[in-house]
Amino acid sequence: MDADRWHGTSTMPPAYKLIKERGLDKHLTELEAYGLTILTPEEIGEPDLLERTREAVLRIAEARTGVRHDIDTGAHGSMDVVGSNDSQYLLFSFLEEDPVFEEIIQHRMTLPIIDYYLGEDCQLSSLTCFIKWQNEQGYGPNLGLHNDSGLYRAGPLPGRPHVFNTNWILTDYTLDNGAFCIVPGSHKLCRHPKPGEGVEDAVPVEAPAGSVLVFHGNVWHGAFPRKNPGLRLSINAYYCGGHYRAQESFRGRISEAMVARNGERFQQLVGYDDIWGFSDARGPMSWYKRAS
Ligand SMILES: [Fe+2]
Repeated sequence: MDADRWHGTSTMPPAYKLIKERGLDKHLTELEAYGLTILTPEEIGEPDLLERTREAVLRIAEARTGVRHDIDTGAHGSMDVVGSNDSQYLLFSFLEEDPVFEEIIQHRMTLPIIDYYLGEDCQLSSLTCFIKWQNEQGYGPNLGLHNDSGLYRAGPLPGRPHVFNTNWILTDYTLDNGAFCIVPGSHKLCRHPKPGEGVEDAVPVEAPAGSVLVFHGNVWHGAFPRKNPGLRLSINAYYCGGHYRAQESFRGRISEAMVARNGERFQQLVGYDDIWGFSDARGPMSWYKRAS
């Protein structure tokens, strides 16, 4: 047996077998070196997924603000939500508002990479949509640099990540469009950036709509201000290890139809069978059974 077939041994994680079979192994090299990799629209391989996702996001944004959003003109409303400011607002808690989001969180080209790092029992921590518009300030001179390992407030951060993130790009990322940015290799420092640290090494992640960024929970990242007119749309599907606390609760939001049209992995991702956090005399049981 030569090394080309070693991924098939029983001691290797099944996720790695999928990574090899789907030609994703070069992304592990980039993740190791930079802390981020870009999957192209061609690799994602579903031309209509971008359009369906964008339509769903624009529909939800309009429903929540009463204003019809326009990617080209930048028309948007206002929303008093966490993270909103003069340059952006965020959509939270929308998994159940369109089946396309069920596709995204368990996509065949991204989930094997997440599973490889976090374990095949990892869970969806949250699903968040960023809507940004023209604004010279953006996140300010520090570019909002941070990492996603916020639960470790003091650090040091574990070298093996406990969280991983994906950023689904719904409008083109260029520097003047307010591209996402990272500080390449910063995930290996295993700590949070100090205020202003890393700005001179931050690089824009320029990629067309339909691309997906996959990045390590320790890597320092932020965004450049959007200088061009129009809207910048993206969705973060954020994951954590099965033994960590998720940001968002999906309890009571998973319908029978959602369970029926998805596999067991979906149930695990959204904590459908989670036995933790019990509160009645019957003891630990899947939360959805507790009401009966
Ligand atoms: Fe982040």
